[in-house]
Amino acid sequence: MPRPGEHYVIVGGTRGLGHRLAQAVAADGASVTITGRNTESGKAAAEAVGVGCRAATCDLTDWPSIEEAFRDLPTIDHLILCALDRDQNTVAEFRPDAAAQTSLMKNVGYAAAVHYALPKFSPTGSVVMFSGISMWRPFPGSMTISMANAGVIGLMNSLATQIAPVRVNSITPGVIGGTDAFDQADPIRRAAFEAMLARTPGRRLPTPDEVVAATFALTDNAGINGSNLVIDGGMTLM
Ligand SMILES: NC(=O)c1ccc[n+]([C@@H]2O[C@H](COP(=O)([O-])OP(=O)(O)OC[C@H]3O[C@@H](n4cnc5c(N)ncnc54)[C@H](OP(=O)(O)O)[C@@H]3O)[C@@H](O)[C@H]2O)c1
Repeated sequence: MPRPGEHYVIVGGTRGLGHRLAQAVAADGASVTITGRNTESGKAAAEAVGVGCRAATCDLTDWPSIEEAFRDLPTIDHLILCALDRDQNTVAEFRPDAAAQTSLMKNVGYAAAVHYALPKFSPTGSVVMFSGISMWRPFPGSMTISMANAGVIGLMNSLATQIAPVRVNSITPGVIGGTDAFDQADPIRRAAFEAMLARTPGRRLPTPDEVVAATFALTDNAGINGSNLVIDGGMTLM
């Protein structure tokens, strides 16, 4: 669990799972920096988290903005990379520019964020990067995200060998209830997600709070490195 005196940086912390993580970090008395692409909405998101939370602005496809966002940050204990720019794409109706944007932000952008964070890491620090179940279980339109999520695992393996003693792990959520990915899904995706839910042994989707707890399991445990923690309620078993 986050401890007073620790500093978490959550790239993609203005909404969704990243924002929920920021709330949990602040509630435990640690300080947290959240990033989004827009300064005003980032500030509002930080105010919503409350005491101990500050906002920085960066776009993971804009390297100078990442450098700028990290430049003045204090020591980083844990860097959480959970940003996603959702793209719906298929090979039949391929939109390469949109695909490139998502791949760029979620793979090269995650690597760039670690690069600019390097001088700031505490030796007992860690990185947690968000992948996703779509790398194994594609759903309609997930092609680009499936690619990018698989790339996160390769990036994790490489980074863990390069930046020790800082540890590098990843989280692979299934479909998470109570997030926009599920709640705002169009009817075709919603049907695919309902089918995945029906195949999940306990017939329940993991919750955002359970993803938060899984993330802290990775940040807390000094023995876990180069691991991908799947939190999908067993969705991939059946
Ligand atoms: N929700 C799920 O069911 C689910 C399932 C599997 C995996 N995941 C993974 O979990 C992570 C979080 O998902 P979520 O559903 O919570 O996401 P979300 O609600 O859509 O939030 C996305 C975040 O990413 C930021 N962002 C988007 N594009 C960016 C860019 N180019 N540069 C920097 N930041 C950018 C957004 O900030 P601004 O818009 O403020 O700029 C926002 O804070 C993602 O990596 C996703 O792949 C989620």
